[in-house]
This record gives sequence, structure tokens and C-alpha cells, in this order.
Amino acid sequence: MASNMPILSLFSAFFFFFLLLDHLVSPLPETCPEQFCEVGDPIRFPFRLKQSQPNERCAYPGFDLICNAQRQTTLNLPISGEFIVETIEYTQQVIMLRDHPEGCLLKRLQDFTLSGSNWTVQHNIELTLFKCPKTSWYPGMPQLVPCLDGQNYSVVAVTSDELPQQRRRLSSIGCSDNGTVTVPTVDSANPLFDDALRYPYAFLLAWTVPSCGSCGAGFGTCGFKGKKGLEITCTVDHGSPDRRADHRWIFVAISIPCFIYIVCLFSQLSRKFRARRQAQQDQTDGLSPTDRAQALVVISGMDTSTIESYPKTRIGDNGAPMPQENTCSICLSEYKPEDVLRTIPACEHSFHAHCIDPWLKRNAICPLCRAPQGYVTNHNFSV
Ligand SMILES: *[C@@H]1O[C@H](CO)[C@@H](O)[C@H](O)[C@H]1NC(C)=O
Ligand SMILES: *[C@@H]1O[C@H](CO)[C@@H](O)[C@H](O)[C@H]1NC(C)=O
Ligand SMILES: *[C@@H]1O[C@H](CO)[C@@H](O)[C@H](O)[C@H]1NC(C)=O
Repeated sequence: MASNMPILSLFSAFFFFFLLLDHLVSPLPETCPEQFCEVGDPIRFPFRLKQSQPNERCAYPGFDLICNAQRQTTLNLPISGEFIVETIEYTQQVIMLRDHPEGCLLKRLQDFTLSGSNWTVQHNIELTLFKCPKTSWYPGMPQLVPCLDGQNYSVVAVTSDELPQQRRRLSSIGCSDNGTVTVPTVDSANPLFDDALRYPYAFLLAWTVPSCGSCGAGFGTCGFKGKKGLEITCTVDHGSPDRRADHRWIFVAISIPCFIYIVCLFSQLSRKFRARRQAQQDQTDGLSPTDRAQALVVISGMDTSTIESYPKTRIGDNGAPMPQENTCSICLSEYKPEDVLRTIPACEHSFHAHCIDPWLKRNAICPLCRAPQGYVTNHNFSV
């Protein structure tokens, strides 16, 4: 029913308003300021610096970092131990790790495992190691790995694509195979891939959960959604947490008058609607019971033949009745010469034919004086 429309709209407005209010005023993710070790990238969600950020809700499980004595950011893997965090690529969800300067990465990678952690490897590079006599060298000789050197030999590492040609030359100078080592890295399409190849002191691990990489194209603030659970959310706001809080109050300050205005508007609309229904009611109240019954039937609309029986005129035709108003009160467009009008015989009100015809099909009353139609014309309506 048409009369339910304002109430329905009011309810949906209420609903959306509270939805919006709830969304915007609901608690923001934990405020976890960015942290730094003296050396290294800024640390933010899903990572935290365990010593200076005691709030566990500032990091995803398994993303705790530690500042070591040399003020370097470090990550502790469950079995393979501590590595230095070279870079954190938040958008790509990749972390570059290396060993301590005095350590030996390729040695540690020989028995490296990620079990017990949630880190993943996107791609592996296989390096083949060769033991070579200490003094042997030739132009284009593969990368030396001094930390693996023995007293009488040095070790070189050869990538798999170089292996076929290097193997021949290495064996010709007395080098011997010394096994392989797997270096975790990223897909070859990733720009970090080249770095990893050129820089065998580091390796790359990836994470898939939590997926903050696309959060605000890297400019959003990622964090836990609520006080509990692992659901994350992305807040795109360049302001500081304080300013974000201000925004909330501005929103509240603006939305309350808006809300009151909407409520007033709707109550006014529904009052108007009720008044109009009352008017329709009054129109039928003055009639005899039979008439009223007839009118009630009729008020739902008129049939085409009755409408067609009402006189039709063209503005400018000789003797045509000129409407008193300048505009048609149904379609609100101005009367112009040659416009075709239809006149309601009972009250002699005229309108554009193409506007009043559909109106009468739906409402059997004159839109101007609200005189009910149908029973004034001699037409058979069964009750
Ligand atoms: C791995 O991730 C799950 C949730 O995704 C978490 O509950 C678990 O503690 C993580 N494990 C480690 C070792 O970080
Ligand atoms: C290294 O070479 C020296 C002599 O050149 C030899 O005495 C020594 O045993 C060698 N050590 C190893 C580990 O092969
Ligand atoms: C590499 O060389 C060292 C030293 O000679 C030896 O102990 C080790 O077993 C070798 N590893 C492989 C895989 O050949």
C-alpha cells in the first residue's frame, strides 16, 4: 500500500543510519604506533617489537620481532633460530632475512626448516657448492662463499642456470662437488628476486595470513578487528589516532542534527499522507451507504471507456475551454497551443489528456477538487 511507503522509508532510514553510526563509531582497531629498532624498517602490524610494545593485540601470532644488542631487528624461527630482518615488504607480504655478520647463511640454510611457523616460501633457488683449491681462479668464476672455506679449499656457489657451463670449468681446475643448498626466495617476477640472487647473504620468506598487503594500497592501517579473535580490518586514514577520534566526534556532531531533520521530514510527510487519506475519507463520508460502497469501488480507478467518454479538446480550437491555470496540475508542464486536454464533466476541470488519463485509471477522483468520479457518470458499477 502506498500509505505504508513513508513508514517503510523511515524504518529503512533508521536502519541505515544506525548501521552507519555503528560502523563509524565502533571501536577503532587497537592503536599500535609504528616502532623502530635503531637499524631497519619501521615495524607495524602484523609485526610488533616485543620489548617496547607489550600489547599482544598489536601483532599477529608468530610476528613478534626483537631488537638485539646491536639494535638490529630480529626474527626468531621456531627451529632454525634467530635471523636479522633486512627489510619488511608490507604490501608484498615478504620479509628479507640474513644471518649475523659473523655467521654463515648458506651453512645455516643447509639444515633450515620452517616447521612450527606460519612462514611460507614462494620459490626456491638451488645453489650447488664446489670445493676448489684455494689459489685457483678464472674470470667469471662463481660467487665465493668464504664462510664455508676450509683450511685448504675455498667454496663457490653456482646457480642452477649457470651450472652446466660452470661445472666443466670448475672440474678442470680441480674443484669437487660439495652438495647443494636451498635458498628460499620469491617468484622471479618479484623485483626482490634479483636482489636475492645477487645477494646470497639473504633469503626471503612470505606470509599469507594476515592478508594486510592490499590494505589501503599500503597506506591503510591494518589491525585486529575486535578485542578478541584473529579477524583483521583495514582503516584507511592518514590521520593520527587522535585526529581519527576527532573525526568521530565531528561525525556525531553532524549526524545528530541530520538525523533530527530526517525524522522531522518523515513525520511531516506521513502527516501529509494521513491528511490526504482523511480528505479521501471525508469525500466518501457525505454519501449514502450505497454511494459510499460504490465510491469505494470506484475510487480504486476508472475503466478506459469511461475515461474516453469524457470530452477531449485541443487548445486553440474554436470554443475550447481554456484552463484557468497555466500548468497542468498533474504533470506540472505548461499548457501550450495544440495540447490535447480532457475535461472532467462533474467539476469541469481540465488537464492534459495524456496526464489525466493514467491518473483516472488509478484514482477515480479529480486531482484538483478531489470530486469522486464514476458515480457521477451513468456507468454500471456492481457493489
Ligand atoms: C599460525 O597462525 C595461526 C592463525 O592463523 C595462529 O593461531 C598460530 O598461533 C600461528 N602459529 C605460529 C607458530 O605462529
Ligand atoms: C691441507 O694441506 C696441507 C699441505 O698443503 C696438508 O698438510 C693438510 O693435511 C691439508 N689439510 C686438509 C684438511 O686437507
Ligand atoms: C663438503 O665438504 C666438507 C668438507 O670437506 C665435507 O665435510 C662435507 O661432507 C661435504 N658435503 C657434501 C654434501 O659433499
